[in-house]
Amino acid sequence: MHELIDHPCVQHKLAIIRDVDTGHKKFRELATEITKFICYEALKNIAVKRVTVQTPVAVASCKKIDTDLVVVPILRAGVGMLEGILELVPTARVGFVGLYRDEVTKQPVSYYQRLPAETRGGTCIIVDPMLATGGSTVAAIDLLKASGASKIVVVCIVTCPEGLQRVEEKHPDVPIYAAAIDDHLNENKYIVPGLGDAGDRLFGTSH
Ligand code: PRP
Ligand code: URA
Repeated sequence: MHELIDHPCVQHKLAIIRDVDTGHKKFRELATEITKFICYEALKNIAVKRVTVQTPVAVASCKKIDTDLVVVPILRAGVGMLEGILELVPTARVGFVGLYRDEVTKQPVSYYQRLPAETRGGTCIIVDPMLATGGSTVAAIDLLKASGASKIVVVCIVTCPEGLQRVEEKHPDVPIYAAAIDDHLNENKYIVPGLGDAGDRLFGTSH
């Protein structure tokens, strides 16, 4: 299952973040803002419990989140989405998965992993701005499942049909939320039109 967040407020920001003339400061701010909107939608099905709250007037029947939330940014570009989701769920725990895409083979290479115990039993939200071939996302889901995770959601900013198909074939139980499903991958496995190299644009580095 995947869902496109086609809200004008998200799409407006997406138009600016894609722009080649948007510098890293603005890019980071927009990544935070867009992430918050996408995650608002992506978390709509998480477990809640009924609670009663004494207001100054009467007792109200309310709902509270009833699952441990574990945000998992894929290093490095996923870090650019951390602030946005933590603004929404400030008590979430954070686990890190280090993966980079080999420049020649385009296959994900794993180099770091640090996950909280709540990965098992909680709800894990993988964040990475780009889901291109899907290799990195599949590797991150594999890793979380190997660590005992059973409830996983993926939040990205831009994806494409090839990447969605790959992740959905391997992990049909994991919903994916994105602000854009672009046209295709180019010969370098970059998303077209995409927004370029998300890590470089977030952190002001270049190849
Ligand atoms: C980018 C991006 C994803 C991955 C997507 O990371 O942030 O993790 O590529 O590509 P895929 O779907 O084809 O696997 P990159 O490997 O450039 O590392 P970085 O975040 O450290 O820059
Ligand atoms: N990684 C990126 O940062 N951008 C792409 O388009 C593909 C992979």
